Amino acid sequence: MPQLRPYVAAVVRPIPVTTRDERIAALDDAGHNPFYIPATMVSIDLLSDSGTGALSQQQQAWAALADERYAFAESFTRFDHAVREIVPYPYVFPVHQGRAAERVLCGSLLSRGQISVSNTHFDTTSANIALLGCYSVDLPCPEAVDLDSDHPFKGNIDLDGLNTLLRGPDGPRVGQILITMTNNGMGGQPVSMSNLDAVSQIARDHGIPLILDAARMAENAWLVRRREAGYEDWTPRDIARRAFEFADGCVASLKKDGLGHAGGFLAVRDESLAQQCEATITATEGHRTYGGMAGHSLEVVAQGLREAFDPHYLADRETDAAYLAEQIHAAGVDTVRPAGMHAVYLNASRVLPHLQPHHFPAHALACALYREGGIRAAEMGSLYLGGLDEHNNLVTPAPFELVRLALPRRVYDHSHLEYIGEILVDIAKNPERVTGYQIVEAPRILRHFKCVTAPLDQHGA
Ligand code: F0G
Repeated sequence: MPQLRPYVAAVVRPIPVTTRDERIAALDDAGHNPFYIPATMVSIDLLSDSGTGALSQQQQAWAALADERYAFAESFTRFDHAVREIVPYPYVFPVHQGRAAERVLCGSLLSRGQISVSNTHFDTTSANIALLGCYSVDLPCPEAVDLDSDHPFKGNIDLDGLNTLLRGPDGPRVGQILITMTNNGMGGQPVSMSNLDAVSQIARDHGIPLILDAARMAENAWLVRRREAGYEDWTPRDIARRAFEFADGCVASLKKDGLGHAGGFLAVRDESLAQQCEATITATEGHRTYGGMAGHSLEVVAQGLREAFDPHYLADRETDAAYLAEQIHAAGVDTVRPAGMHAVYLNASRVLPHLQPHHFPAHALACALYREGGIRAAEMGSLYLGGLDEHNNLVTPAPFELVRLALPRRVYDHSHLEYIGEILVDIAKNPERVTGYQIVEAPRILRHFKCVTAPLDQHGA
C-alpha cells in the first residue's frame, strides 16, 4: 500500500527567504558558528529535532485544559499514566528536559572516579559525567565505524569490548552501563533487542545498573519492528516496553519522541535510588510531580507520547528520512547508511576531499549549506569531538567528519527536502569553492555551541 502522510498542516509559520549576501553577513556576525545565527535568518532549520516539532490540535487542546496546581495536579496524573503505558518501572519523575534527568540519575549512581560505559554517550550526558569527576567510555559496535555498511543495527554496543573492559583492570570502576537508543552520536542508528538482551545479561552478571537513554524510544522501537526478525507483528509500544524491561532505569528527553517543546523524565526500579533522585529533583528541579515542567507541558508530552507511538506516524517519519537520503544521494553526496529516523548524516570528508581534518571539513560543509541555501545543520566532526592543543589547533581528529541534518517532527514537507538536495548538488559540483576553517576561540567543554571560527581564506592561512 502506498504511504499516506497521516496529518495535514492546520496552522503554518512563514519561513524567511534571504539573499546569499545577507547570509554571508549573518554567518560573519555569528562568528561562523551556526548556533549563533538568528533564526530569522534561517530558512530550513535542521540544527536539531529536539523541541522543534509541530504540535497536534489534540496536544494544544490538552494544554488548554492544564491543571497548574503545585502538587499532584491532574496534569501530572495524566502525564504519569502516559509514561507508565510504556515504562514498566515503579518510580517515575518528570524533569524539565533530558539533561536534567542525566544530571540527577548519574549523580545518584556514580561516585567520583567511576566510569560510565555506553554505545555512545550523548554530549550532554558525557558533560554531566565529567562534571561529576567521572569518565565516559564509548564502545559502539564494530559495524558502526563502516559508514557505508547497511547493517541494520549499527547503534548496538560492542559486546566483546564491554566484556573486555569489565574483566580488565578498569572493570571494578564501571558504575553504570548506558544505552542510547537510537544512537544519536553515531548516525542515529537503532539498537537491537538482542543486543539489549545480551547487555542486560552482562550488566546483571557484574551487578552494574543498566540505564537506557530513551530520547528516541519510539523511533528505535519502529526500526526494531522493521528490521529485527520476530518483532514484525509487535506494536511499537510493546517493543519499547520490552526494551525497558531489559534495564534498571531510564533517562528521557521528551523533546524528541514526546513531541513536546520541553520536558523529560527519569524512571527507576530501585526504591532507594528513587529516593535519592527525588531529593535531588526536589532541591533542583521542583516538586516530584512537576520537576520543572509547567502543567501545560506535562499535557503536551502526555498526548505527544501517544501520537509518537502511532505506527502510521512512525512509518511516515521513516519515509521522510529515506526520502531526504535519496535526495542527497542523487546530489552525489554520501550519507551514513542506512538512513535512520531523526536525521540524515552527511559524510563531509567525501564531499570536500581537499580539506583535511585540521581544516574542519564538516564545519565547512555546514557553513556552506547555510551560505548557499539558508539551511542550518549541526557539525558532528572534529570541531565537536576532536582534541585541541592550547592554541586551538586540532591534534586528535574525530573518527568521522559528519554533518547532521536533523528532521524536526511534522514540520518540513517533501518540497523542503528536495530543496536541500538541490543546494547540495550546487555545493558538490564545485567543492573546491568551499574553504577550510580555523578556530579563533573555544570554551573547554561543549565547545561546538560557543566557539568562534574563521574561514582560512579570510586569514590567509
Ligand atoms: N540524549 C540524547 C540521545 C539526545 O539526543 C539529547 C538531546 C539528550 C539526551 C538531552 O536531552 O536536550 O532534552 O536535554 N539531543 C538534542 C539534539 C539536543 O539535537 O540531538 P535534552
